[in-house]
Amino acid sequence: MLEKLNKIEKTALESLAAVTDEAALEAWRVANIGRSSPVMNVFSQMSGLSKEERPLVGQRANQVKTALEQAFAARAEVVKNAALSKSLQEERLDVTLPGRPARRGGLHPATVTLRRMLGILAEMGFQVYTSRDVETDEMNFQALNFPPHHPAREMQDSFYIEAGERGDNPLLMRTHTSPGQIRAMREFSGANPENPPSIRIALPGMCYRYEQITARSEVQFYQIEGLAVGENITYGDLKGTLADFARRMFGEHAKVRFRASYFPFTEPSAEMDVECFVCGGKGCAVCKNSGWLEILGSGMVHPNVLQNGGYDPRRYTGFAFGMGPQRMTMLQHRMNDIRYFWGNDIRFLEQF
Ligand code: DAH
Repeated sequence: MLEKLNKIEKTALESLAAVTDEAALEAWRVANIGRSSPVMNVFSQMSGLSKEERPLVGQRANQVKTALEQAFAARAEVVKNAALSKSLQEERLDVTLPGRPARRGGLHPATVTLRRMLGILAEMGFQVYTSRDVETDEMNFQALNFPPHHPAREMQDSFYIEAGERGDNPLLMRTHTSPGQIRAMREFSGANPENPPSIRIALPGMCYRYEQITARSEVQFYQIEGLAVGENITYGDLKGTLADFARRMFGEHAKVRFRASYFPFTEPSAEMDVECFVCGGKGCAVCKNSGWLEILGSGMVHPNVLQNGGYDPRRYTGFAFGMGPQRMTMLQHRMNDIRYFWGNDIRFLEQF
């Protein structure tokens, strides 16, 4: 029996030395110090031993059991530490590796131009005034001197929102930023009807027209409207202001010209061209060989419009202009198709 115990101890310790992970450790525990392990079996065989042998075997069996338990505890410690340092090693973060760069978004090219134009106008003393996208027929047309059946309405086929109920003043998506002129004038004159203050505002916003979408026209587009109203404003102020704007926008040598035009809300009306910056005025595909690029509509505010805004046309005059940031962007970047703006194609957007 003592011989057998020595052998049990030796074999068990040998096999323990080969244990390197938690699973093998547990298997070793069950096999070598568990309830039906060889050493435990020795205890259950004690009753068959002689009186002399029994204490010797019992003592030795206890020694072996304790020795195996201690060896197990020591081994368990080693295995646990090894597992810990292994996982520390494997899961270690290399903080010296270069990071993955976050993909940065950018402003939309139309927004970039819009902000640049508003920045220039702000330097020239025009404050930003925003107005609603959903307008009434009255604001979008009638107060701007378009009578109900005026042919100029054809220029702006509109998205009506509800036709029936509001009679001849239906709601529609604004077709231009000009109704903001009336809203601004009414707001300022409403606060002081006897002595309305002078006005110098820039009115940016989205406009909507019910049109065929082509390379040259979209159903929605930005406009910036300008409005100056005061007691001694002349056509000279209009020309000086817009020529100055063109120089700030396109460079100090930018040349402009005015061509007589027609808008119901201005009289006289003019369109302004800037000398083609692609060919320097010599004539090219961008300016269609004319040497000039049309960039805005403008005019002296019509007396009826001043009146509708609460400004007495016998005392006040003013000028207004309307221009398209997207058209400016197209000219500057020689874009040939307006549909790129809202096409959401990352390859287009990334170029800016
Ligand atoms: N509202 C005009 C349009 O959308 C643009 C315009 C022309 C605005 C002349 C003005 C202006 O203020 O004076 O076509």
